[in-house]
Amino acid sequence: MSAEKLQEARRQIEICNACRYCEGYCAVFPAITRQTAFADGDITQLANLCHNCRGCYYACQYTEPHEFAINLPRVLAEVRTDSWRELAWPSGFAKAYDRHGVAMGAMTVLCLFFLILGAGSMRGAGDGEGFYQYLSHGFMVAIFAPAFIVPLLAMVISIRRYWRHVGGGAIGWIAMARAFHDVATLRNLGGGQDQGCNFEDEDRFSNARRIAHQLTLWGFLLCFASTSSATVLHYAFDMQAPYGVFSLPKLFGVPGGLMLSAGTFWMVVLKLQADGDLSDGRVRGGDMAFVLLLFAVSTSGLLLYAATYSGLVPYLLTFHLATVLTLFLTLPYSKFVHGFYRLAALLKNARDAG
Ligand code: HEM
Ligand code: SF4
Ligand code: SF4
Repeated sequence: MSAEKLQEARRQIEICNACRYCEGYCAVFPAITRQTAFADGDITQLANLCHNCRGCYYACQYTEPHEFAINLPRVLAEVRTDSWRELAWPSGFAKAYDRHGVAMGAMTVLCLFFLILGAGSMRGAGDGEGFYQYLSHGFMVAIFAPAFIVPLLAMVISIRRYWRHVGGGAIGWIAMARAFHDVATLRNLGGGQDQGCNFEDEDRFSNARRIAHQLTLWGFLLCFASTSSATVLHYAFDMQAPYGVFSLPKLFGVPGGLMLSAGTFWMVVLKLQADGDLSDGRVRGGDMAFVLLLFAVSTSGLLLYAATYSGLVPYLLTFHLATVLTLFLTLPYSKFVHGFYRLAALLKNARDAG
């Protein structure tokens, strides 16, 4: 981790610890006041606890041109992305993705598109109904199982490294319930009084980012539930796709896809309005790639459903599979990791707060 950034964050945090004006804004400030000295692991934990709501920056009387030059959202964002890069396994991929995220994401989707399309036509017709006319179930499992399991293992290694670095320990049930409540409500994007944050507009408190994120998060989880329920129906009940309108995969998948598309679209709009100087400019490409990829996954999934039985299915199916594969293959190095690190930071914080 950059010693310079850690030192700069430590300097600002020590000023905040003396000032304490922002105590009620988020979990970061109460966590700061529980300590008097900050080791590197403590700074990393605070950085992962910060939700980049920007409330403290706009409230602060010590931002530039004041000599204290406080910009907590930016310095914590920089330490946060440094920590994700350093703790990622293997870390070289993460650095490349940060710099060229959109290009790498687009290239991967394109390569996978032609690869899957080629594999489908070489195999000829698939072995079943619906989508399986174009690609066999066995082929999909053969490419998706490793593409899902290997990045997940890499992520487990990274989170274990994080937990050791920040001095995490055993977590009780109450702390766990409190942390999951913070995730479900995104309390730390609420500006302390639930009036919302200043992410996209300095003078206005708004819950727009919080709502857009909830649409994205719950939309993603519903899509995941849809795929998982389809797997259970296939293997445990020998029920093959395509599934009916009132089946679990469709009941989870259609609202999930709509929420994910709407949430990510809204997040892109908010992101374009926000002041880039209050985040980590080095990873702008990678951050944008992650949101766009989620949008591509959900929107292509919905289009695929709308186009059922039309001639577009082989192309839409291939594009949809390519985007899903790219999302999972880049999981340990893209902004996807924020969910895992932030959950870990909220768990540790809930435990430390007692
Ligand atoms: C433990 C669960 C999660 C927590 C606590 C969490 C928290 C956050 C926070 C605080 C932000 C804004 C700050 C930042 O830009 O880093 C954010 C951004 C975002 N999150 Fe999550 N998140 C979680 C899981 C997820 C999941 C599962 C998804 C979807 C797969 C998701 C999608 C996004 C997107 C698209 C952004 C915007 C990225 C950007 O603007 O650069 N999050 N999340
Ligand atoms: S961000 Fe500024 S106002 Fe808020 S606690 Fe720190 S120094 Fe004080
Ligand atoms: S940007 Fe928001 S979440 Fe981060 S420290 Fe400041 S008030 Fe807390």
